[in-house]
Amino acid sequence: MKILLAGGAGYIGSHTSAALLESGHDVVVLDNYDNSSPEAIKRVEKLTGKPVSLYEADATDSKAVFDIMNKEKPDCVIHFAGLKAVGESIKQPLRYYRNNIDTTLTLLECMEKTGCKKIVFSSSATVYGEENPAPCNEEMRKGSCTNPYGWTKSMMEQILQDAAVADPRLTVILLRYFNPIGAHPSGQIGENPRGIPNNLMPYITQVAVGKREKLTVFGGDYDTPDGTCLRDYIHIMDLADGHVKAVEFSQNHKGVEIINLGTGQPYSVLDMVNTFQKENNIRVPYEIGPRRGGDLPVVYADAGKAEKLLGWKAKRNLADMCRDSWRWQKNNPNGYDGLEIEK
Ligand code: NAD
Ligand code: UD1
Repeated sequence: MKILLAGGAGYIGSHTSAALLESGHDVVVLDNYDNSSPEAIKRVEKLTGKPVSLYEADATDSKAVFDIMNKEKPDCVIHFAGLKAVGESIKQPLRYYRNNIDTTLTLLECMEKTGCKKIVFSSSATVYGEENPAPCNEEMRKGSCTNPYGWTKSMMEQILQDAAVADPRLTVILLRYFNPIGAHPSGQIGENPRGIPNNLMPYITQVAVGKREKLTVFGGDYDTPDGTCLRDYIHIMDLADGHVKAVEFSQNHKGVEIINLGTGQPYSVLDMVNTFQKENNIRVPYEIGPRRGGDLPVVYADAGKAEKLLGWKAKRNLADMCRDSWRWQKNNPNGYDGLEIEK
């Protein structure tokens, strides 16, 4: 199959590109490099020994997207193209709504015009909101989000579901990711955050590599075994494999499916710090600080539906995630060329 990955040069898109190529699919990537570098895709080509059709384009640009889809005629679109920083979304809500909603509408309209009927969407566990206790399952009603980023995901899910009601030939797979971390085991591609990382693992690796002084653990007084929050961390290679399964599943399926991609196994912030230190034999200085607004104490997936429907289950453990994240950071202290991390 030929798959168009909108936002495919980013963290999840680059690993998914590699997984799709390894599974024998053709990959077309469209990205405006707002938060990525074409270097990631060059490295994917080197790793897999297979070519990617790469386009620098904005997924809100109808003409550019139409021209690419009309030329490439993909069997399926994976929609990764979006802004994802929670804190930034609170400061710049209009930019987040404009970009994330517009990319979704543009991709759907161009699919309609070019006859593409399959779309896999990057959603997030954040749509479960605070109303739903862990483990989150796909039958639960969506909850209220605590920030504009989360609301864009919730709204985009709705838009995609409405489009599928209007066009029964459309297949929509809403993948709700839990906490993707780790990197390709080669250490050649990985997560490349701009500025100060918001997320736990890139912060830990930047402390370990000496770019940041210490990690602040956000809250040590939660009602959890060690007082820190529990999350469902999933290896990026498992997540990428989940996309391959979802794309293949979409070929013989109509309508909407919501599918969690998580491990079902929660770990605390201190579990993560301790495992990282032990596996990599490196110190990660930290202090316990105040809670971060909007954090929920416990979030993890019911991962049963993905196994049943896609035959997919996460295989890698926390130690693998810690080793692979560190290999990437150590080999690429400044990320991809030309994308220096700001101090
Ligand atoms: P990322 O920032 O690395 O990748 C997103 C890519 O989209 C980037 O390459 C960026 O340049 C591109 N992009 C953004 N707006 C675009 C536009 N208008 N036109 C073309 N390209 C555009 O992020 P990621 O971690 O790879 O996430 C991919 C998707 O998964 C995002 O939609 C994100 O919200 C979602 N998601 C990520 C996580 C996570 O923890 N990483 C969790 C849940 C959901
Ligand atoms: C966050 C977002 C979520 C988004 C996801 C992926 C919030 C409230 N949620 O999830 O919407 O989909 O990222 O981008 O921002 N932690 C620390 N110190 C740090 C960083 C994190 O202690 O410097 C803790 C957090 O409190 C949390 C855990 O580590 O308990 C994981 O945090 P993070 O990686 O930011 O993911 P989430 O908060 O789960």
